[in-house]
Amino acid sequence: MNNSESIKALLLPHIRRIKPYSGVDPMEAMAEQAGIAPEKVIRLNGNENPYGPSPRVAEALGAFPHYNHYPDQDQRALRQGLSEYLSVDPNRIVAGNGSDELIDLLLRMFVGPGDNIIIPTPTFGMYAFSAEVCGGEVISVDRDESFEIDLENMCTAATANTKATFFPSPNNPSGNIASEVQIKGMLDTGMLVVVDEAYYEFCGETAVPLVEEYPNLVVLRTFSKWAGLAGLRIGLGVMHPELAATMMGMKPPYNVNLASEVALLASLKDRSGLMERVDSIVAERDRMMDLLKKIPGVNPWPSRANFILCQLPQDRGKEIFEGLCRKGIFLRHWNTPQLKDFVRASVGLPDETDAVVKALQELVGE
Ligand SMILES: Cc1ncc(COP(=O)(O)O)c(C=O)c1O
Repeated sequence: MNNSESIKALLLPHIRRIKPYSGVDPMEAMAEQAGIAPEKVIRLNGNENPYGPSPRVAEALGAFPHYNHYPDQDQRALRQGLSEYLSVDPNRIVAGNGSDELIDLLLRMFVGPGDNIIIPTPTFGMYAFSAEVCGGEVISVDRDESFEIDLENMCTAATANTKATFFPSPNNPSGNIASEVQIKGMLDTGMLVVVDEAYYEFCGETAVPLVEEYPNLVVLRTFSKWAGLAGLRIGLGVMHPELAATMMGMKPPYNVNLASEVALLASLKDRSGLMERVDSIVAERDRMMDLLKKIPGVNPWPSRANFILCQLPQDRGKEIFEGLCRKGIFLRHWNTPQLKDFVRASVGLPDETDAVVKALQELVGE
């Protein structure tokens, strides 16, 4: 017998069980769902940068003469550029195809069948997804009612097979940061602690200096959010040199493509221009927060990132989220017990904020 069942029988059992990660749809699919033109879509579900990349990126991409060459598997120019940006030795840095790839590489380095990771939920979905791809298990420890990490419960939930934990700071979707006490408390357990600083530039607080002191700490950053390069996929990790050497030796050789490298180096030359846009996004976040607070029944959570998590009236999360989609406004909603009455709105342009606020006023008031 040679049919699809026989090939499926050869799949690893944990891969057969995988639930796909649910990412962001393209504009055309959103437009079709809402029955509107793609340019009318308000896309605030991916925490993307509404201003796009630095203008220097298109220039540099157009002028680069060597796309026929493979990228440098040792990432020399990338690591050097990032080392100056981060004030960290290049041997501590590894670049990835988005920070998603670094999450995947770390888990492949540490987690296999029988192992587990421990995560403070709600949090970014890729940690659980990538751990399950490795055949690992996920121990979820609920954050408290203010979405603070419950360090004591995290430590008691850890087992002899716990290999790693992930602390996004600011956390996606709640927008709050992990404190140094929480990070150090977890580091002292000896497990791998990954502080994911995807939204660092919007808050300015970092665990990078702790990397010198703790060989079990990895800090992740991305150029998707502050630098507007989500579509080009480039992130980085800062870690102990031995860990970085191991990761460099087991990653796919050409994991960061040349266009991403060129775009990253061009972005680093325009840091002040990009940071001005970050300042505009932060100012817009604060304006959005004030407007959301005024809507009866809507409770926005304070955020240090480029998005705001909003609590909606009880049992109405899905209905309001779907109402927004019908109006062409795409936010993020989760069908989980913890988050069923919440939506997360990325901070976009001022007229997008106004449209979200108006639509929420209408839908919540219905
Ligand atoms: C906390 C966190 N980490 C990592 C990522 C993924 O970043 P990248 O685009 O670099 O893969 C995201 C994206 O939303 C995120 O929220």
